[in-house]
Amino acid sequence: MSDIYDVLVIGGGPGGYNCAIRAGQLGLKVACIEGRGTLGGTCLNVGCIPSKALLHSSEMYETAGKDFAGLGIKAELELDLPTMMGAKEKTVDALTKGIEFLFKKNKVEYIQGFGKITAPGTVEVDGKAYQAKNIVIATGSEVATLPGIDIDETRIISSTGALSLSEVPGKLLVIGAGVIGLELGSVWRRLGSEVTVVEYLPHILPGMDGEIQKQATRMFKKQKVKFELDRKVTGVTKTASGLNVTTEAAAGGKPKDIAADVVLVAIGRRPFTDKLGLDTLGVATDKRGFVATDHFKTNVGGIWAIGDCTTGPMLAHKAEEEAVAVAELIAGKAGHVNYDVIPGVIYTNPEIACVGQTEEELKEAGIPYKSGKFPFMANSRARANHETDGFVKILAHAETDEILGAHMIGKGVSEMIAEVALAMEFKAASEDIARTCHAHPTCSEAVRQAAMDVEKWAMQM
Ligand code: FAD
Ligand code: NAI
Repeated sequence: MSDIYDVLVIGGGPGGYNCAIRAGQLGLKVACIEGRGTLGGTCLNVGCIPSKALLHSSEMYETAGKDFAGLGIKAELELDLPTMMGAKEKTVDALTKGIEFLFKKNKVEYIQGFGKITAPGTVEVDGKAYQAKNIVIATGSEVATLPGIDIDETRIISSTGALSLSEVPGKLLVIGAGVIGLELGSVWRRLGSEVTVVEYLPHILPGMDGEIQKQATRMFKKQKVKFELDRKVTGVTKTASGLNVTTEAAAGGKPKDIAADVVLVAIGRRPFTDKLGLDTLGVATDKRGFVATDHFKTNVGGIWAIGDCTTGPMLAHKAEEEAVAVAELIAGKAGHVNYDVIPGVIYTNPEIACVGQTEEELKEAGIPYKSGKFPFMANSRARANHETDGFVKILAHAETDEILGAHMIGKGVSEMIAEVALAMEFKAASEDIARTCHAHPTCSEAVRQAAMDVEKWAMQM
């Protein structure tokens, strides 16, 4: 057998490992190069999985303390943070090892070390050169930093530090009211921190549907998260008693100092392509450093790029879609990604989920639409569970009735959004959902009722 690989994948995150597995399934000779020592990338090691593990256990802790008594359950409550962290680590460990198993099952060779592309078709790892017909760059992203604010991962932390604090901060100041700020801010608030979020924009969750932004702001405020909107952080200084965070209005002026014990910097992520050799090879990047691609192809023949290091939403499932598509294209099949139907979920309580276009985007594009909405307050399962906050909104084309978007806030909407995504993949009309029998009592009946409300015949409100 030839020593030349069909595919060498650089990076073992959701982009890289899924690409390698799919290539293996398709009978290609494939290896995946990963430098961090474990597979799974940001997502499994310091992203999606550990954050969801802590969101789950902190939510159980809060529910036990806040809601059990009202349901007639008496419980004594004590936080055991080391055990909570240990449970998170066990999950991460099992899942990262699971990928090693999947590699073996699909005949993917795992090469440990950092890869550098030294020439088209050649990747060097620890001084050893590997040859390939195709190279897939899946090197992901890293935390974006603020000038003058040095992350030490103990008191001034990124998401990585926020996933393994050894004690609950008294006062946690979060810079950025995006996904990470709200998810990890929620974790520590539930465990006892006083949380203040400073956001540059006049609203939280940029890019989300305006009605969802407003409802989410109300709900987080009800949970005693403080927001300093339209405000930027200008510096953080260490004091004898903690940290002093200097801020001013986004437009300048109106200075305000805020005291904190821990500061979480959550202002976004940037592509990670350090030491990959892109400059020498002439692989084009855009002005923000993302690898420039056209249908996953870079400007250099035989070199492809996917996932967080390319443009588009920085989401594990977006990377996974691209991974499958690129492996299929390399194998001569018709891989493709439908970027119009990539759901987004924020795993706070209540959860927030969306797919497709927002009302603001439809208005901006001049697309005529109609909207249907249904509150969980009117859903019997949500009532039985005492989880009635939030709503489902469905947007459909005014003339064709094709579903153009769905926006949800409420308990468990992370699971409900898939129904609408599937409908959109099939170019369904809102009436298709409205006329699909949904089991009773389930929270997903709210999706059906919202679809019925598009034509104003929702029957349960
Ligand atoms: P990565 O997962 O970043 O993987 C890239 C890998 O490449 C890394 O392991 C890196 O070590 C390796 N690498 C880099 N350079 C080299 C090299 N030269 N040689 C060898 N290896 C190299 N997304 C969701 O969809 N849902 C979530 O709930 C979610 N939660 C998140 C929570 C947090 C706190 C964070 C930070 C992110 C979260 N994300 C979530 C985003 C998600 O983690 C990323 O979108 C996803 O991991 C991107 O996958 P990727 O394969 O492109 O890159
Ligand atoms: P983000 O882009 O979601 O939010 C960053 C926020 O910081 C924005 O609201 C921005 O306006 C604000 N900001 C930027 N500079 C600022 C400043 N100087 N002062 C105050 N505010 C400032 O980025 P985040 O939360 O860091 O997440 C990074 C990526 O990770 C996201 O793109 C997201 O897709 C991914 N992620 C996804 C999750 C999920 O799918 N559930 C969970 C966590 C992360």
